[in-house]
Amino acid sequence: MSIKEEMSKRRTFAIISHPDAGKTTLTEKLLLTGNLIRSAGTVKGKKSGKFATSDWMEIEKQRGISVTSSVMNFPYRDYQVNILDTPGHEDFSEDTYRTLTAVDSVVMIIDATKGIEAQTLKLFKVCKMRGIPIFTFINKMDREGRDPFELMEEIEDVLEIETYPMTWPAGMGKRFLGVFDRNHETFVRYTGNETEDVIPYKELENSQYAELTDDATYQESEEQLMLLDEAGENFDREKVMRGEQTPVFFGSALAPFGVEAFFDTFIDMAPEPAPRRSTEGVVSPDDPEFSGFIFKIQANMNPQHRDRVAFVRICSGKFERGMNVTLGRTGKTFKLAQSQQFVASSRGTVEEAYAGDIIGIYDPNVYRIGDTILTGKSVFEYDELPQFPPEEFKKVTAKNVMKSKQFKKGIEQLVQEGAIQLFKRYRFEDYILGAVGQLQYDVFEYRMKNEYNVEVDLQTLGERIPRWLNPEQVNEALFDERNMLVQDREGNPLVLFKNDFSLKWFKDNNPDIELIDLFEVN
Ligand code: G4P
Repeated sequence: MSIKEEMSKRRTFAIISHPDAGKTTLTEKLLLTGNLIRSAGTVKGKKSGKFATSDWMEIEKQRGISVTSSVMNFPYRDYQVNILDTPGHEDFSEDTYRTLTAVDSVVMIIDATKGIEAQTLKLFKVCKMRGIPIFTFINKMDREGRDPFELMEEIEDVLEIETYPMTWPAGMGKRFLGVFDRNHETFVRYTGNETEDVIPYKELENSQYAELTDDATYQESEEQLMLLDEAGENFDREKVMRGEQTPVFFGSALAPFGVEAFFDTFIDMAPEPAPRRSTEGVVSPDDPEFSGFIFKIQANMNPQHRDRVAFVRICSGKFERGMNVTLGRTGKTFKLAQSQQFVASSRGTVEEAYAGDIIGIYDPNVYRIGDTILTGKSVFEYDELPQFPPEEFKKVTAKNVMKSKQFKKGIEQLVQEGAIQLFKRYRFEDYILGAVGQLQYDVFEYRMKNEYNVEVDLQTLGERIPRWLNPEQVNEALFDERNMLVQDREGNPLVLFKNDFSLKWFKDNNPDIELIDLFEVN
């Protein structure tokens, strides 16, 4: 196959959700449809002490490796599917956000009994600011959930995105009958076991289905569907591609029900790798020259294996093992001897890969997050990865003042690598660290000790709301410990507001001062 054909078969996406919405269960069912794993039981089962294939975090922790999001890939129909894991809970970190810069689309899972939850909202904002196409799977329809219209409305209001129900449910919980699949024009009947009964619209009039079609729940849903056809939004693929409309599917990852209907439509509609902006203009994914960027560096925390793995999202051309590449930042060329591609939980070596694929390469301590590697005469860099607004801030000091040289060096390198963010206060020598999750601090502390031999003290400033300022409007007199004025790595001024209340109070009292939310500008 040509490079163009290969890349057009790639579907690279992440699943975003709040913990417990069903990401692990859905991922496992997708792997099953790809026949990658033999039985669901081998994957899922926190109770049985086994881990889901996507729960690498725990496995890696046990092996003593630092943890971040990982990748699964498998063939489905004639496509090559790449799923990037976005860890949640206390393992939420900037890597979770950065993973979203390496995907072409996103599947958002919403628990039908709960609606939109905090973590979904955070991750959604990143997708929105990057214009990533979002497909929504409303899960747990086998339980008594919230009214589907109400869920649609919540998505539209809270996330400010148009919805288009691609499937529509008939009942829920005990009375869940199935879904109308508007894309395939079928009714998919819920049988309560793993087989799905797929009935084309035309055949629904047949008497053999009378028991179903006479059911009041079915009839109510059919009326709702007619209402949607007449008064609802039209499906608009262009809007979906721009991240302005989300196709919505209903189902149950656990049953599983509606998973295949969803995945088939998703694979057909989800975008292939898109051209990407670089310092040398837009690069097409079928460009014959290889290029990619590093969106994550995984440092091995096991002292016996000090290697690090850099995760590369391939953006163009063909990757071949042992090829020579140039690092865009320095212009230096070297050989990529070792590469690993992550297929489920077993690591295999990749011989070749194309735009959309993710490869792990050995990092002899030369890469930084956001680096571009490439072949060809023209040396360029892809657009810088955005800075994501941290939420938790801590003041950091070295326990032993004699170690201040290593302390500074360690911080500088870890900040440059993208492991954590650094802020400085005006007129103070304080080092303030910012992260989106506790995991980043754990990793920071560990690496400072093990790699730089410095023990650190971390003193929390708590959760803060960062807002960047227009440099011309900086007035030190307006700020104090509560609303702390600091500078980021580039020297840009920002305020760490104590809480929503302080932010609101400040806005009300200083209406002329512009406050910039990074989620809205990136
Ligand atoms: P997560 O990765 O998003 O955190 O969620 P996960 O898949 O682990 O699912 C969280 C819980 O919700 C699990 O139950 C899982 O079985 C259940 N679940 C997922 N999808 C569905 C669904 O479609 N319907 C129903 N009824 N439940 C669903 P648990 O009891 O917490 O875990 P376990 O004991 O099953 O391992």
